[in-house]
Amino acid sequence: MADHVSMALVGCGNIARAHWRGIRYHAPRIRVTAAVDADIDRAEAMAARTGAKAFASLADALVDGDFDAVDLMLPHDQHEAAAVECFAAGKHVVLEKPMAQDLPSCERILKAAERAGTVFMVAEQAQYWPDAREARALIDGGEIGAVITARACFYDPLNVDPAQPRPWRFQLARAGGGISIDGGAHWIRPLRMMLGEIDEVIAATGRHIADMEGESWAQALFRFRNGVVASFNALLHASPVANTEDFRITGSRGEIVIEHGREGRLLLFNAAHPDGKTVMRTFPGKVDSYGAELHDFSQAVLDGKALEASPAFSLGELRTALAMYRSVESGRWEKVWS
Ligand SMILES: NC(=O)c1ccc[n+]([C@@H]2O[C@H](COP(=O)([O-])OP(=O)(O)OC[C@H]3O[C@@H](n4cnc5c(N)ncnc54)[C@H](O)[C@@H]3O)[C@@H](O)[C@H]2O)c1
Repeated sequence: MADHVSMALVGCGNIARAHWRGIRYHAPRIRVTAAVDADIDRAEAMAARTGAKAFASLADALVDGDFDAVDLMLPHDQHEAAAVECFAAGKHVVLEKPMAQDLPSCERILKAAERAGTVFMVAEQAQYWPDAREARALIDGGEIGAVITARACFYDPLNVDPAQPRPWRFQLARAGGGISIDGGAHWIRPLRMMLGEIDEVIAATGRHIADMEGESWAQALFRFRNGVVASFNALLHASPVANTEDFRITGSRGEIVIEHGREGRLLLFNAAHPDGKTVMRTFPGKVDSYGAELHDFSQAVLDGKALEASPAFSLGELRTALAMYRSVESGRWEKVWS
């Protein structure tokens, strides 16, 4: 039985650096043997970091590369074609979120995965955030009583070089939406981890960044199956803003706050801790979560371990974003799962 998974990193852009760091420090059973990018300079730079061989296309890598698994980190409009090609070649696949831009595309990917019978994971590092897991444990342990309401706040700095061509994530046809379908997923997943499944949503969105076709801000309410209603606020900001809390979960006997940023803490307020107890720091756990997710994947491939979150579960963030978009059109609450 193999003691490691050999892997191709496909798409050597922004998130690939975080995945490589995760593999290097936290996923010891993965060896990177191929680095693929349509921009060969990026592929070569990643190859130099990892000791892998560089390829300018996935097709070439599938013919000449030596790997059992792929980590697909591509623009959203490339997800389906790349995943289906890799499953047809019998590879195990990690695919960055969202699985695809729409549900029919996700269905085709899921069918290809089933036919291949290999491991399929949709990468969502928030599943491994120690603070989100701890918050869930505190809620389950009754520390804040019954949850009354919650708030998720995702303020992301705009990070675009105006000298470069318009990025793919600013183009609706390539990204499938704006901030909600993209980074918003990392705030929706912890809400689902803490509060359960989302039943329906109502949303307003807007655009305040000229070049971005999708929404650059979103305000939404999520009603969970247990009746709890949470707010979701997302904003891509081009100008300075004050610090925010990532999450605030308010219960009948107390409150949990997860602060934003590298100095962030998880705080618990209740009768025993009326001024707030620091339960944990949120870093470096948040950064290390990429490694935890890839380690989980390697265990699924090598040991047959069940993934922490199945591909079907990972559709929840995409479905929530798509329901938000429908709600903007209809002006009504929209169901997430039907
Ligand atoms: N989990 C997270 O925190 C997180 C953060 C950022 C991005 N992402 C996800 O990662 C994926 C990639 O995002 P990114 O920000 O790294 O994008 P990026 O633009 O920085 O990198 C994408 C890379 O793919 C290459 N590429 C494009 N089409 C290709 C093709 N057909 N074949 C080979 N290479 C190709 C580009 O040249 C580029 O280097 C997206 O799904 C995105 O949602 C996740």
